[in-house]
Amino acid sequence: MSNIEVRPLGYAAGAEVLGLDLRKPLSSTEVDQVNAAWHQHLVLVFPGQDLTPPQLIEFTGKLGDIERNENVPYYRHPEYPEVLLVTNKQVNGKPSQTRNTGRNWHADLSYTDRPAKGSVLMCKEKPDVGGDTMFANMYMAYETLSPIMQKFVDGLEAVHDITLIKGFNRRDPAQVADLKAKNPPIVHPLVRVHPDTGRKSLFVSERVRNFVGMTEEESQPILDFLNMHATSPEFVYRHRWNLNDVVMWDNRCTLHIALKDFDQSQPRHMMRCSMLGEKSGYVLPDEHEEGSAKSALVAVS
Ligand code: OGA
Ligand code: MN
Repeated sequence: MSNIEVRPLGYAAGAEVLGLDLRKPLSSTEVDQVNAAWHQHLVLVFPGQDLTPPQLIEFTGKLGDIERNENVPYYRHPEYPEVLLVTNKQVNGKPSQTRNTGRNWHADLSYTDRPAKGSVLMCKEKPDVGGDTMFANMYMAYETLSPIMQKFVDGLEAVHDITLIKGFNRRDPAQVADLKAKNPPIVHPLVRVHPDTGRKSLFVSERVRNFVGMTEEESQPILDFLNMHATSPEFVYRHRWNLNDVVMWDNRCTLHIALKDFDQSQPRHMMRCSMLGEKSGYVLPDEHEEGSAKSALVAVS
């Protein structure tokens, strides 16, 4: 018998889950309860969970297949490659390049052929105030479009480009070259059906360069509208972190952004473990070098 309590934190997304100790393996009933709450609220907060990396991996593994971060093999935990360190603390005596992770609206690993199913982020150290993360509900983003606009976006494919990660080109040049080689621009449908809920959601983000068959000039105003619409305040849950919060989000129906709304001299240290998503998308021919809309046009002709 478990005593899980689920308390909604926001209308668009977010619920707190109480009554679980994530250091212990979840029973299959508990896994079912967590999944049901997750599908309903999209972002779950488990407060007061002081997990070790293996415990974080074990918990994440109950809800999906573990992602090993091979597409971005940097800033992984030295002993546990499944754990990504999102930190502004020095790493090997150097400023961390994950200190500005997630500064534009995105879904994790959308620039790969396995966009993440879910991610689990745990707060190990935090600034006095701020360092918040916002999440936006992409079911609502889709459902609130007019029928004509829905029909239009239903037919579009989006080119996701790793170089549109905010601050990407300021990273170490060798890493930039490696990450570009490992992650050429990739096409995913702009509207996806969630495999568990059957609901349609908008799979847009600030890491989309253009739509297949359309130039960047044609795509950009539509992208600007869709990104603005999708991240409207009424679709957003804003999480204010407490130490030892574990927050789990569904990348298949949400976007998120990490805010730089805190004193950068204070440490913020997080551990992330992600779940592998379903295989999706295709790489455009000749996109490796330029990421140009010209080759996008070739792909549909
Ligand atoms: C991430 C991310 C958000 C944050 O880890 O995927 O976007 O607030 N981080 O650190
Ligand atoms: Mn992220």
